[in-house]
Amino acid sequence: MRRKVIAGNWKMHKDLSESQNLISKLTNALNKEETKCDVIICPPFTSLSEAAALVKNTKVKLGAQNMYFEDKGAFTGEISAAMLKSVGCEYVILGHSERRTIFGESDSTVNKKIKKALSSGLRPIFCIGESLVEREKGITNEVVKRQVTEGLQQVSKGEMEKIIIAYEPIWAIGTGVNATPQQAQEVHVFVRNLIGEIFGSDTAEKQIIQYGGSVKPDNAADLLSQTDIDGALVGGACLDADSFMSIIKSV
Ligand code: 13P
Repeated sequence: MRRKVIAGNWKMHKDLSESQNLISKLTNALNKEETKCDVIICPPFTSLSEAAALVKNTKVKLGAQNMYFEDKGAFTGEISAAMLKSVGCEYVILGHSERRTIFGESDSTVNKKIKKALSSGLRPIFCIGESLVEREKGITNEVVKRQVTEGLQQVSKGEMEKIIIAYEPIWAIGTGVNATPQQAQEVHVFVRNLIGEIFGSDTAEKQIIQYGGSVKPDNAADLLSQTDIDGALVGGACLDADSFMSIIKSV
């Protein structure tokens, strides 16, 4: 039985004091609950250090939203894996569709980042997912297969235990139109089988595959009840402690 993982991707929201406020509310609420899942928050870089202090000795784990694959150097504006480790991050979101579409990240860039994160002791939350045009053309499986195989080049079977895959159909992100539980389940099964072909069925069986894209308190339970949906990567609904808590409680 895979333990579910609920992660919050804050994106470019919350300054330092807003971050402190949200984390305090969340950790207080979680203290009073018997949680049946792991909880990860991914605030912006500027709040990570303070967030690490606030989540220490709580049930909340800390992740970043991106990193660069080089160790150091003249890469203005970039953040390294070691920097994220040094402020207390355990996870890092990689290959988010906003990074791919707005900032031009390719599968091979995502692959370099995944390998660097792993060798630095960070756990990647590896995002994949098709656009609306791709879904309408009927090439969803083809797209996620390319993203998975290219993104995981030279990743070992042992390292797969450290990786969370997040299936986030682009058309469902920030639109209020979530994939139906059946649509998501179908792609999750496809991805799990693919992981089985590459790394073996034992790895596939253990693989955490989250769903992301307009997960809200009122649709979380249905999505999370699907056999192959092992958690959620939540955007908008994680910016409010009550709605994020209600998604966590729906596990
Ligand atoms: P929304 O939940 O706002 O649709 O965002 C999903 C997402 O992109 C999480 O990474």
